[in-house]
Amino acid sequence: MASRTEPDGGPGTAPEDAYTAEPFLPGRGGLPALRKAAAGCRGCPLHRDATQTVFGAGNDHARVLLVGEQPGDQEDRQGKPFVGPAGKVLTRALDEAGIDPDDTYITNAVKHFKFELVPARGKRRIHKAPNLRELTACRPWLNAEMRLVDPDVIIALGATAGKALLGPSFRVTKQRGMLLPYEDRGESVVATIHPSAVLRADDRDAVYEGLVSDLRIAAQALS
Ligand code: URA
Ligand code: SF4
Repeated sequence: MASRTEPDGGPGTAPEDAYTAEPFLPGRGGLPALRKAAAGCRGCPLHRDATQTVFGAGNDHARVLLVGEQPGDQEDRQGKPFVGPAGKVLTRALDEAGIDPDDTYITNAVKHFKFELVPARGKRRIHKAPNLRELTACRPWLNAEMRLVDPDVIIALGATAGKALLGPSFRVTKQRGMLLPYEDRGESVVATIHPSAVLRADDRDAVYEGLVSDLRIAAQALS
């Protein structure tokens, strides 16, 4: 114990060398029980500064499960995934690709918003990428969601989700828009860009079309 660093998550948070959501998972029950338990997760320090846990949402029996990175500012305030600007882009792209948004369940690799306060910009909360340790800590929630929803196709939105599902050597530029086997389970994974990349792009139309065409690969896998 002497070599342990001080817990930096405050009371009730796992020590630094033991970030994991595992002890917070319920032993039984479906998605409602899981969602309820996740609201109290302190498996890593990200719960401290965020407003609330943003758990997956949508159709609990969806054939398509989408995985993003982490909640953004709007999601953190509202408690639901993809309700901000990136979500609007995504909904439109899904629809255009022929995926019924009602046949989707959407979640994130990390369930709490990680941000930096930027005083020069009116204390705006700026998204900060989760690190590997936080991703690993949060993974039991995603695994349980995938097991309970039991989709036919998983869509990884962006590099973080792609690496989480397909391993650290995953490259979104090289492997997007392909039906890839998901080793852990029987499903297929299709990776694409994160919808927020459309909003940041100079050539929004082209980047958006790329997103739609990747999503069409997932739509084809369903039919
Ligand atoms: N970006 C994400 O990756 N997830 C959200 O829920 C919102 C924005
Ligand atoms: Fe738990 Fe994940 Fe939130 Fe960390 S980010 S406290 S592991 S729900």
